[in-house]
Amino acid sequence: MITKKINRGCIGNEEEQESADILSSYINDPDYADVELLHAMLLAFMLAGKDTIDVTLLWTFYKLTQNPKIVSIIRGELSPIALHKIDTGMGAMVIFDPEETKSMVYLRAVLYETLRLYPPAPFERKTMAADNIMPSGHEVHAGETILISLHSMGRMEDIWGKDCRDYNPHRWLLEGSNKPRYEPSHKFLSFNSGPWICPGKEIVVIQMRTIVATVVWNFDLELVKGQSIEPKLSCTLQMKNGLIVKLKKREI
Ligand code: HEM
Repeated sequence: MITKKINRGCIGNEEEQESADILSSYINDPDYADVELLHAMLLAFMLAGKDTIDVTLLWTFYKLTQNPKIVSIIRGELSPIALHKIDTGMGAMVIFDPEETKSMVYLRAVLYETLRLYPPAPFERKTMAADNIMPSGHEVHAGETILISLHSMGRMEDIWGKDCRDYNPHRWLLEGSNKPRYEPSHKFLSFNSGPWICPGKEIVVIQMRTIVATVVWNFDLELVKGQSIEPKLSCTLQMKNGLIVKLKKREI
């Protein structure tokens, strides 16, 4: 069951293609024969994807208003496809398809860097089903609850190095190349890990890449002055006062 759960909801390779229809994959799964369980899982799918995407996009756009160099690199990555679309008469507004953003390694790095510093689910909370010993050597007992701060983990020098506080998408690329660097999910825990890994992980990165590509290519973003940008203590890492950004159509 665990293997199926991890593959489900992904897109891209053969295995993933087969399970791209999430609803059918659950309906056809004997582990979800209980209608209430199926109902709960489908509800989880509808709820889990909403606020998490919203807040990731908010923090990403905020960071982009602060980092014009990063915006230029994203536009450089988008330009071959965007200019081709313009040449073939696609009109003034360039809209990117999910397929077209697949090769955009830097854009993926930007999103992962946001998710590292601003994990939409900032805490993991798990209650122990049985006594156990953690990899750290700590004893835990049935009924006890463990809280893991993903927000802190994303900012720890021991894990991410001296520049752990910097917004640096290049850390997600192999040194001196434009190839993605893969970090283990127990280190980059924003989507959780193992059997608890988010089944929407692949889909959400594709969706967000498409949105950020389309906004960044077509508009200049400017942060409206005088705002206080700070996180709000809640179960998702919202912005306490929201984000106000001016969008100006780019002349290309
Ligand atoms: C940036 C976006 C997202 C992040 C950071 C994220 C993160 C997570 C995390 C950390 C968990 C594990 C929670 C736990 O430990 O129990 C989780 C579970 C889940 N996520 Fe996501 N998620 C995102 C988007 C999505 C989307 C778009 C979908 C749906 C298409 C989705 C569907 C689910 C579902 C159904 C679960 C529960 C799985 C289960 O209980 O077996 N997520 N997500």
